[in-house]
Amino acid sequence: MHAMHLRAPALIGAALILTACGGDDAEPLPPDPGPALVEEGRQVFRFDTFGDEAQWTDTLRMHEVIASAVDPVTALSVGLKVDAEALPAAVVQGIKDGSVDLKSPATTVALLKLNAVVGVVGKVETVNGKDQLTRVGVTCALCHSTVDNSFAQGIGKRLDGWANRDLNPGAIIALSPALSPAQKAVYNSWGKGRYDPRFNQDGKNGPVVIPPIYGLKNIHRITFTGDGDDVSYWNRYVAVTQMGGLGSFSDPRIGVNVTHGNVDLVSSKLPALRAYQLSLAAPAAPAMSFDAGAAARGKVLFGGKAQCITCHSGPEFTDANERLHPVGELVGEPEAPGVPSYASRTATGQYRTAPLKGVWQHAPYFHNGSAATLGDVVEAYNTRKSLGLSEAEVAELAEYLKSL
Ligand code: HEC
Ligand code: HEC
Repeated sequence: MHAMHLRAPALIGAALILTACGGDDAEPLPPDPGPALVEEGRQVFRFDTFGDEAQWTDTLRMHEVIASAVDPVTALSVGLKVDAEALPAAVVQGIKDGSVDLKSPATTVALLKLNAVVGVVGKVETVNGKDQLTRVGVTCALCHSTVDNSFAQGIGKRLDGWANRDLNPGAIIALSPALSPAQKAVYNSWGKGRYDPRFNQDGKNGPVVIPPIYGLKNIHRITFTGDGDDVSYWNRYVAVTQMGGLGSFSDPRIGVNVTHGNVDLVSSKLPALRAYQLSLAAPAAPAMSFDAGAAARGKVLFGGKAQCITCHSGPEFTDANERLHPVGELVGEPEAPGVPSYASRTATGQYRTAPLKGVWQHAPYFHNGSAATLGDVVEAYNTRKSLGLSEAEVAELAEYLKSL
């Protein structure tokens, strides 16, 4: 996203500057933030663009691409999701009986007008009696929500906090007519479920999987590398530097100091956004999705022979609140050949032990998605750490992970 690399006017930057040492924005959160703040945060999470239309419309001109080339079939194929609950009965009927044309970009515009495309907010205006998409922006829900497919594949009820691992953000951004072929090649190299939240800052290319953002309530190290002590640190980072929202983010540890616009549409929303995120619990494993007997044996291995508990400790299965781990201690690196170490690009240079609640839900695993299944994860530990687990024990440990 070098094309939108708009550096801050110094004066505004100074006025809005933050003390970012990982713990900024961490005003004390009341133990129970109350339903009103949580609901406000839900609205921010789902529908607030923080004014990022400046990036997605003015710079990237995505509104033109959508209106001319992105029919609903195409939108679903790049992983965009449709909120079935936002569809009026007539549209539902039309999709069922085929009278709503899913091969027409005009239908996408109609869905945007209904606010039914998860994570995408469009402004549709009537020009000469015809609906036209004049502005488009994105919200947190683009990457951190999916749907339950209850109506059709990609169409259903929202599941906030779940990573959208079908989404191909790179392929979507690469549709922009404002990018150079070299930039498009980088974006197209990422693949679905992956995004590099630092490429437009450090110019390096090494995407990570889009993580779920549920189950973070008691975890005080945020991101794969524990860059922040509080979700608001990273929420501000993404809202400003990635989504292009209007406001400021500064962290001297990573040499990032960005201001967009001359108003701040981010700061005031952070407390509600945090309250909502922290209200999202990891989903329990579905009944019958794992073998309970094998999982019970796997639990013993987890705490014993396999030594997992030395790092995946406590109720959240992580020691994140006490320490981070140097690259040499984990099996999620080295990266693929030619890819820079993700940790080396971050504020801490280390990794946070991944919390494991709900881990059944979000394959592939490790920050770079290098393990396709939980069986692959355990096998990687077994080999790299010479744990001496038998094939049966590897399977039992994997069943246990599926149950968390
Ligand atoms: C384009 C996709 C994308 C969008 C949009 C996005 N994120 Fe993320 N998010 C990511 C990726 C990728 C990471 C992993 C980065 C890391 O951990 O280093 C991440 C990480 C996070 C984390 C850290 C999770 C953890 O386990 O510590 C939080 C919290 C988060 N995002 C919240 C948000 C919020 C709030 C918004 C809206 C302001 C948002 N994200 C918008 C892709 C996205
Ligand atoms: C030295 C500390 C340490 C030990 C011991 C350890 N882990 Fe991990 N684990 C981590 C770290 C750090 C990560 C994050 C790695 C990454 O993102 O690349 C992780 C990631 C994972 C993940 C992926 C989670 C996700 O969200 O993608 C799983 C599953 C996992 N570990 C299971 C285990 C099991 C099973 C064992 C025992 C065989 C184990 N770990 C032992 C530190 C450890």
